[in-house]
Amino acid sequence: MSTNIIDEIKLLKTERNAILLVHNYQEPKIQELGDFLGDSFELAWKTKNIDNDIIVFAGALFMAETAAILNPEKKVLIPSPSAKCPMAHMLSVKEMKHYRSQYPNAAIAVYVNTTAETKAMADICITSGNAVKVISKLDQKQVLIGPDRNLASYIQKQVPEKEIIPFPEVGHCYVHRKFNPSDIQNLKLRHPDAEILVHPEADPSVQKLAHKICSTSGMLKEARKSNSEKFIIVTEIGLVDRLRSNLPMKSFIPARNDAICIQQKKITIYNLYMSLLHEQYHIRIPSKIAGKARGALERMLELSK
Ligand code: 13P
Ligand code: SF4
Repeated sequence: MSTNIIDEIKLLKTERNAILLVHNYQEPKIQELGDFLGDSFELAWKTKNIDNDIIVFAGALFMAETAAILNPEKKVLIPSPSAKCPMAHMLSVKEMKHYRSQYPNAAIAVYVNTTAETKAMADICITSGNAVKVISKLDQKQVLIGPDRNLASYIQKQVPEKEIIPFPEVGHCYVHRKFNPSDIQNLKLRHPDAEILVHPEADPSVQKLAHKICSTSGMLKEARKSNSEKFIIVTEIGLVDRLRSNLPMKSFIPARNDAICIQQKKITIYNLYMSLLHEQYHIRIPSKIAGKARGALERMLELSK
C-alpha cells in the first residue's frame, strides 16, 4: 500500500472536519489512522460527544447506524455498506412482535448487533461491555435478550436474580462459533501461564474455560492491569493487533487464526479514502425509526453510567 493514500486520508479528514471512529476488529493500518478506537459501547458513547461535522465509521454497519441514530445532526459515513454483521439480521421485526405479545410483562433488551428497525421496537439496547450493569438495573424481573444466545447465557450467570429468556431460537456470531473447548484446552497445555480472555459471544462451554469474560475493550483493560505477561485471546483476530500495538511488552496468542469477521474486513484503506473523498456512504435512517431506536440506545447509555 503506498504511503500516499495514508497521507491523503489524513489530509481529507482535516479538510472535511471528519473524525474517524474505528472498531477493535479493524485491520492495523485503519486502527493507526483512527481518532478513536473502541468496542461497540465505547464507540456509541463517543458519538454523543463529537464536534466534527462528519463521522466516518470503520466497523460494522450496525455500529455506524448507532452513531447516526444517537447523533442525528451529524453526517455519518461508512466506507462499505456491505459491512453487515450477519447476527444483526437474526432478529426480525416480526419476531419482535411475536415475543412482545408472548411476554407482555417482560423487558426486551436487544444487543446493539441489530438493525435500526429492531432497536426501534426494543425497551433497551445492550452491548457486551455494559450488558450485566444495564440488565441488573432494569425494573422487570423477566428480561428477553436477543439475538445472541451466548451473550444471554453469560448475562443469566452474572445476574441470577433475573429470569433471562434468550430469543429468537437461533442467534449467534459465526466467528465466535468457531471456538471450541478443545482448541482452548490445547493452548492451555502449551501455555499454562497464560490468562484466557473470552468474548461473551463464544459458546458457554468455551466461556467456562475463561479467566475473564469481557468485551473487546474489556480484554484490553484486563491485559493492561493483569500481572500476567501472556494471554490467550478468544475473539476476532483484529483485537490481537490492537493488544499487541498497545501492550508490546506482553504476549497475545489468538485462540484461532481463522477467527476473522469477513464483514468488518470489508472496510479497507482504499474504500476509506473513497469514503472521505466522495463523502460516501451516508447512513440515513427514517426519522420515525431513528427516534424510537434512539430511546432504546439512550436508556442504555443512562443505565451504563
Ligand atoms: P465488542 O462490543 O465487544 O467490541 O463486540 C462487538 C462485536 O461485534 C463482537 O463480535
Ligand atoms: Fe457480527 Fe460476529 Fe462480526 Fe461481531 S464478529 S460484527 S458479531 S459477525
